[in-house]
Amino acid sequence: MDDSRTTATDAPSEGDRLTDAEVEEIVALGRSVTGDVHTVRSAGEIAFTWDYARSRPGLSKLYEKAKGSQWNGSTDLPWNLDVDQEKMARAMIDSPGSARFREAAARHRSEVSRWDEAQWMRFEVENQNGTLSQFLHGEQGALLCTSKLVEQVPWIDAKYYAATQVMDEARHVEVFARYLDEKLSGHHPINPHLGRLLDAILTDERWDITYLGMQIMVEGLALAAFGFIHAMAPEPLLTKLLRYVMSDEARHVAFGVLSLQELYASMTAAELRERQEFAYEAVLRLRDRWFHTDVWEQMGVDPRPIVRVMIDEQSDEERMFRTLLFSKIVPNCKKLGLLDAGDGWLRDRFGELGILGFEDWTDTTDEYEQLDEVQKDRAAG
Ligand SMILES: [Fe+2]
Ligand SMILES: [Fe+2]
Repeated sequence: MDDSRTTATDAPSEGDRLTDAEVEEIVALGRSVTGDVHTVRSAGEIAFTWDYARSRPGLSKLYEKAKGSQWNGSTDLPWNLDVDQEKMARAMIDSPGSARFREAAARHRSEVSRWDEAQWMRFEVENQNGTLSQFLHGEQGALLCTSKLVEQVPWIDAKYYAATQVMDEARHVEVFARYLDEKLSGHHPINPHLGRLLDAILTDERWDITYLGMQIMVEGLALAAFGFIHAMAPEPLLTKLLRYVMSDEARHVAFGVLSLQELYASMTAAELRERQEFAYEAVLRLRDRWFHTDVWEQMGVDPRPIVRVMIDEQSDEERMFRTLLFSKIVPNCKKLGLLDAGDGWLRDRFGELGILGFEDWTDTTDEYEQLDEVQKDRAAG
């Protein structure tokens, strides 16, 4: 998928500690985004099917669910509410985790240990802008990936469902962009790790890689990340926005699992190994994206000591937070048979990354109905 970094078959770093070379790569990548427009060359075949029989009941049920759970980003969210971005930033600065981070940064002689109150405030505000911007860019990636799925997947039930997801993703791009424009204070460019992963997904000619990369990996992480932000969200507009987006995302991940289960059941061990390696590389990219090196660099700070602090000095709570990002991906990979295919290569890699403990957590095919907050609100209202 990408030959410029450590290959999937090289020995990874031990546990979740990073080598110096890995820190350098995270920082170097963080400096590589330029320009306003980015194009890639799409690959693969566009598939007509003449078999219109509704032969996949799981996908058919999901499609019916999607049609009934559409919502309107303009009228179903309370855009009239004011958002106090500095108040949210203040809450972050005053949190115990932030105080612990500042102490650790001083031990690592990072220049941020000399920051005054105003600089920390600016950082927290930019961190909010950056976090929501990455959600926005990821949503655009999902919009492009699912339109590609409509073209390429050869099953009519999957084309129907993917078409509903194109509308979902357009709505998600719309609401995140509007939130950034009206309630926050600036867009950030796409994080290079996320950008390279989206490029790798969109330029692969195998349609199942679009599913694996977007529906299982990127959306699996997004579902977990939205859950955290939702739990911490200090204001009601973002809370409702995330509740509704998550309702859709749970269906999207289920779409990936239901579709790939059928396909991967008939693949050879060699074919599955390629998918295992893709999944592992995607996890590394998604992990590296979370260091927010772009935000530190925007503040004029060397991110290297910061990355060290974030990994080497993390508390048990922070370690749990970081690994929980993969709590949807790991059980879904297991359900697809990717964890144990061949000689269990992916099980070993996930074990080294410290995320194997999630393998028996609920997979998303079982929970999309209970996560439908849109229907819950309609039933209550
Ligand atoms: Fe989305
Ligand atoms: Fe999605």
